[in-house]
Amino acid sequence: MPRDQGPRSISLIGAGRVGSTLTTLLQRRRHRILSVISRRPAAARSLAKLVRARKASSSVRDIARETDLVIIAVPDESIAEVSYELSRSAPLVWSRTAVFHPSGVLTHDALSDVAACGATTFSLHPIQTFPQQIKPRQQLELMKGVWYGFEGEDHARGLASRLVRDLGGRMVSIPKEAKLLYHVACVFASNYTVAVLGAAHALALKAGLPGLEPLQPLIETSVRLTLSGDPKDILTGPVARGSVRTIRAHVNGLSVEEPLIGDAYKVIGMLALELVKQRGGLDEKRIRELTDILRR
Ligand SMILES: NC(=O)c1ccc[n+]([C@@H]2O[C@H](COP(=O)([O-])OP(=O)(O)OC[C@H]3O[C@@H](n4cnc5c(N)ncnc54)[C@H](OP(=O)(O)O)[C@@H]3O)[C@@H](O)[C@H]2O)c1
Repeated sequence: MPRDQGPRSISLIGAGRVGSTLTTLLQRRRHRILSVISRRPAAARSLAKLVRARKASSSVRDIARETDLVIIAVPDESIAEVSYELSRSAPLVWSRTAVFHPSGVLTHDALSDVAACGATTFSLHPIQTFPQQIKPRQQLELMKGVWYGFEGEDHARGLASRLVRDLGGRMVSIPKEAKLLYHVACVFASNYTVAVLGAAHALALKAGLPGLEPLQPLIETSVRLTLSGDPKDILTGPVARGSVRTIRAHVNGLSVEEPLIGDAYKVIGMLALELVKQRGGLDEKRIRELTDILRR
C-alpha cells in the first residue's frame, strides 16, 4: 500500500491541459515529479523542464522506477489502454504505487490492469474546465478552491484527500454507480451552460445587440441567485408566469427563424416547467397548455 503522508514521487502520463496543471501545482507543493511521458516527445520534454522532472519520454517503459504515484491524464478513450501498457512494461514496485486518472465519467475500473498488479487505484476529477484558449498561468489561478470528485478504493481516500489539499482544492466522494450522473451534472453546469449562452449570443446578434454584454447582469444575477438558493425559487420568465401566448409566439417565431434553437427552447422549457410544478402555483389547465406547446 502506498504511503499517505509526505511528498510523493510522481510520474505523469499525458502532458496535456489537465496533466500539466496538476503536476505543476503538486510540484509547487514539494512533491517530486520524476518522469513525464507523452506521445509527442517535445510535449513531454517541455513539461518535464517546467516541473523539473529528470525523465521525459514517449514510452511508459521509461517511467522512473522510484515512482509511487502515477497520474494517467490521457483522453478517456486511452486510459484503459495506457493502464494495460503500464501493467505490461513499467518497471514499478506495484505494492507501493498508486495510480489515478482525472476522468469525470470513468471509474477506477478503467485501471483494472494495474490494480491486478497490486497498485492502489482511484479516479480524481477536477470539477473545473480547461479550455484550450486559456494560458497555463491563468489555468493555475482557476484551480484555487476547486472541488475534486473522488471515486475509488476505500484505502485510497486518505492519499487522495492529501493530494487535493496540496492542490488547494476540496474533495467530494462519488459512489461508483453515480459517476455517470455526476458527470452529466458537470456537463450541464459547464458545457451546456456555454451552449445555452451561445444560443443567447446568436439571437442577441440577430436582434442587433453587440453581443452578450447587455445581458451580463441578467446572466450573472441568475447564476448567483441559483447558486445561493433553490433553482425552483429563482426561476422567473414566461414559463414561471404561465404565459401561454408568449411561449406560443416564441416557439412559432423560432421554428421559422432558428429551428435548432427552437427545438432547444422547447426541451429546456420543459425543464423550466418541471421547476414550476415543484414550486406549485400554476393551475393544471395552464400546465397542460404549456406542455402541449412545448411538446409539439
Ligand atoms: N479538458 C477538461 O476540461 C477536463 C476537465 C476535467 C477532467 N478532464 C479529464 O482529464 C483527462 C485529460 O484531458 P485533457 O483535457 O488534459 O486532454 P489533452 O489536453 O488532450 O491531453 C491529453 C494528453 O495525453 C497525451 N496522450 C494521448 N494518448 C496518449 C498515450 N497513449 N500515451 C501517452 N500520452 C498520451 C496527449 O499527448 P500528445 O499531445 O503528446 O499527443 C496529450 O498531451 C481526460 O481523462 C479528461 O476527461 C478534462
